[in-house]
Amino acid sequence: MKKLIVALVIAVLPGLGVAAGGNVQLEKANIDLNNKESLQRGAKLFVNYCLSCHSAQYMRYNRMARDLGLTNKQVEANLMFASDKIGETMTIAMPAKQSAVWFGAPPPDLSVITRSRGSDWVYTYLTGFYKDDSRPFGVNNTVLANAGMPHVLEGLEGLKEPVYKSVKGSDGHEQQVIDGFKYVSKGKMSPAEYDAAARDLTAFLTYVGEPAQMTRKYVGIWVLLFLFVLFVVSYYLKKEYWKDIH
Ligand code: HEC
Repeated sequence: MKKLIVALVIAVLPGLGVAAGGNVQLEKANIDLNNKESLQRGAKLFVNYCLSCHSAQYMRYNRMARDLGLTNKQVEANLMFASDKIGETMTIAMPAKQSAVWFGAPPPDLSVITRSRGSDWVYTYLTGFYKDDSRPFGVNNTVLANAGMPHVLEGLEGLKEPVYKSVKGSDGHEQQVIDGFKYVSKGKMSPAEYDAAARDLTAFLTYVGEPAQMTRKYVGIWVLLFLFVLFVVSYYLKKEYWKDIH
């Protein structure tokens, strides 16, 4: 019994670890990795808006072409800077030392960001920039307080301002917490369109985190089906073999 309890505790521990990570409610990313168009749009946003500061140093352009259902030519024309070659990885020219001085922290490589932070976290981060005049770039972020990154998608989303409400904290004092947002300037996209764009970007970064995961899941389903069929066949075979003995 004791052993069983220990095993159960160990089994739920990883879940508890995630639950304890920060007190901000994460938005559901709801990505669909089988949706190639969503991944393609995400790749385009990544190249246009993120690749100037963040690398994805484990992602090769030609592998991305194959996985996203594009030809090398299409990737070269739309998703690469002229100086890059199709067999290269998605690196950046900005020296980390320099960018640490500019932004307070160097922009991290985003190859495995969805695996370290989770896709929901990345989606909430991209939709969580809000106006805060006390910050160097005039914005803050709901999941990464005092983030050093400017709101690079402001042209698409516009800028929103938090609406606060006061709640009683555990110590009995009133606290101001963010209750919602209202837009102070408009971007090119509606809020729903911007959420969709953030979803595409998150989907792309999730794909980059493990490019083989679509194949892995697909193969997994066939393996399970095969094992099921094998089970049925083996069962009847066993019955047949033991027929005369029992
Ligand atoms: C102007 C440079 C710049 C651009 C462009 C930029 N970022 Fe950042 N980003 C940063 C910096 C600097 C940080 C580090 C912030 C910190 O730790 O305070 C950061 C942090 C992040 C983080 C959080 C990493 C972590 O775990 O702490 C994510 C996720 C991220 N960026 C995603 C993106 C995406 C997606 C784009 C494109 C839409 C993008 N960034 C464009 C500079 C940039």
